Amino acid sequence: MTPKEMDQAYVLPTYARNYVHFVRGENSMLFDADGKDYVDFGSGIAVCSVGHANPRLAEAICDQARKLIHTSNLYLIEPQARLAKRLAELSGYDVRTFFANSGAEANEGAIKIARRYGEVDGEVKRYKIITLEHSFHGRTITALKATGQEAMHTYFGPFPDGFVYARDIDHIYNLIDDHTVAVMIELVQGEGGVQPMDRDAVQKLAKELKKRDILLIVDEVQTGIYRTGEVLASNLYEITPDIVTLAKGLGGGVPIGAIMTTHKEILKAGDHGSTFGGNFLSTRAGLEVLDILETHKESGELDHMMLLFEERLRQIAAKHTDLFEKEVGVGFMRGLRVKEGLNASDIIDAAFKERVVVLKAGKNTVRFLPVLTITKKEMTLGFERFEAALASL
Ligand SMILES: Cc1ncc(COP(=O)(O)O)c(C=O)c1O
Repeated sequence: MTPKEMDQAYVLPTYARNYVHFVRGENSMLFDADGKDYVDFGSGIAVCSVGHANPRLAEAICDQARKLIHTSNLYLIEPQARLAKRLAELSGYDVRTFFANSGAEANEGAIKIARRYGEVDGEVKRYKIITLEHSFHGRTITALKATGQEAMHTYFGPFPDGFVYARDIDHIYNLIDDHTVAVMIELVQGEGGVQPMDRDAVQKLAKELKKRDILLIVDEVQTGIYRTGEVLASNLYEITPDIVTLAKGLGGGVPIGAIMTTHKEILKAGDHGSTFGGNFLSTRAGLEVLDILETHKESGELDHMMLLFEERLRQIAAKHTDLFEKEVGVGFMRGLRVKEGLNASDIIDAAFKERVVVLKAGKNTVRFLPVLTITKKEMTLGFERFEAALASL
């Protein structure tokens, strides 16, 4: 049996897979089994923050694997404690962190913290969480319900109660009632179509919620770990959320999730847990990723490359007004909005034929999530191929 045949016979078909057979990578480049190279402008959906096969990350993972991978959370885990400290220091927030294994799981934990906050003397007083239309918070039953997209609520019911959806930031105020305990938002909606929230509106919301004792949860599963240029998008927006969730880029490909909260005493022993969450391997990977990216940011290279990338996308949008409405996004979370009546998938398929990997977001956005350590040479090659793909349409 070929690997493709095995996949088709034995793996549940929950993904519309492209059967390209990648076997190795090098920073922004991927190589398939036939030795063909691809420029990866998707980084495994914003996961491979320090590039494919980053030698420092590989060495840290190997070194840790040779010593200890896992002991459970019953015992002290030094890299976990160090990673929690680093996240607090780098973000500048006075927080403690719980470690999970994925974005959905981090959001589940954040929702539990909010629900706990709404309890008074063991009784549920406030439980409602307002999220945004076009949001995406993950695939567990509760994270699906938190996701403000009706299409996500078709099957798998009954869902937990207590979620309401606002059209936009301004509409949130209309939905607040005596049962509201939290508002959960992405600062740049990723899956929803690379849609940044307005900075002033977010700052006003953060202030207003604080006044009303309603928690602000920022889902930074995609925006976090320098994806928007700062360690957290919340830093970029200059707000201090009550809870921030992380995953994707934090482990550079090793599964990890995190819930940072300023409510440092809200959970007690036994309130929440995870067998794997925050084990030696994933938190050591997280520490190495943060070290690499902090240096990259301080050198000016991250901001420099983000500007160049944005400029190229703007040029492409301006040149191909027949295909694109505009360029959208922040930092290395970027998109090209495809014109009404055209199909973003056709552009993505054409790009793939030219061996550049781009993604789809929402209904009509071609999405770019390059590795954060992308080089100028890789970027130039990727856009050369992307332009060739556009010319072929
Ligand atoms: C903003 C956001 N939240 C949550 C998730 C879910 O993360 P995971 O797939 O790791 O559960 C995603 C994944 O795309 C996301 O973009």
